[in-house]
Amino acid sequence: MAQAGESVGPVLIYARTIQARVRELGARISEDYRGKRPHVIGILKGASIFHADLVRTIDLDLSFDFIAVGSYGALTKSSGEVRILKDLDESIEGKDVLLVEDIVDTGLTLHYLLQNLQSRNPESLKIVALLNKPSRREIEVAVDYIGFDIPDEFVIGYGLDYDQRYRNLQDVCILQVNK
Ligand code: IMP
Ligand code: MG
Repeated sequence: MAQAGESVGPVLIYARTIQARVRELGARISEDYRGKRPHVIGILKGASIFHADLVRTIDLDLSFDFIAVGSYGALTKSSGEVRILKDLDESIEGKDVLLVEDIVDTGLTLHYLLQNLQSRNPESLKIVALLNKPSRREIEVAVDYIGFDIPDEFVIGYGLDYDQRYRNLQDVCILQVNK
């Protein structure tokens, strides 16, 4: 019998598929921002690995920064209450900001962050998310670039965690809950 607790379940997206998609996103972003210098902001900690891979596929002069947000509440659910744990180091006023997120689930985190960042007067503000769970959306957010639409499963790996674990998996896997 399997032990109670959580473990790594089936692979949802293989590392090589992620890498190919990241290169496509980078190519599109490079075209769309041609002649500009995007300021690429990663949302810690989940998007750190996606951010690191993505910026290296963007063939433009760019800068980057990080912001950390947390939501109060359960491990696998978003409560909608978002707070900034680590703010940006630099002002984004007048910059072409590209916000890099790991996954859009209910949309509450991004909705909050967008409002917050928009009030700092960037020249433009776009979002790229590696994963999107459209069936879970509670609030509309316009995501400009999406890596993969996925079903309503809790996923781990490639930066995504369960209780701070599994971020280092190369593939995106489904969290298995053993009863
Ligand atoms: P939202 O506010 O519900 O859109 O949730 C966004 C945040 O919840 C993401 O940035 C993740 O940190 C976390 N999250 C949502 N779904 C998952 C998942 O399937 N695996 C890991 N983290 C998730
Ligand atoms: Mg996150």
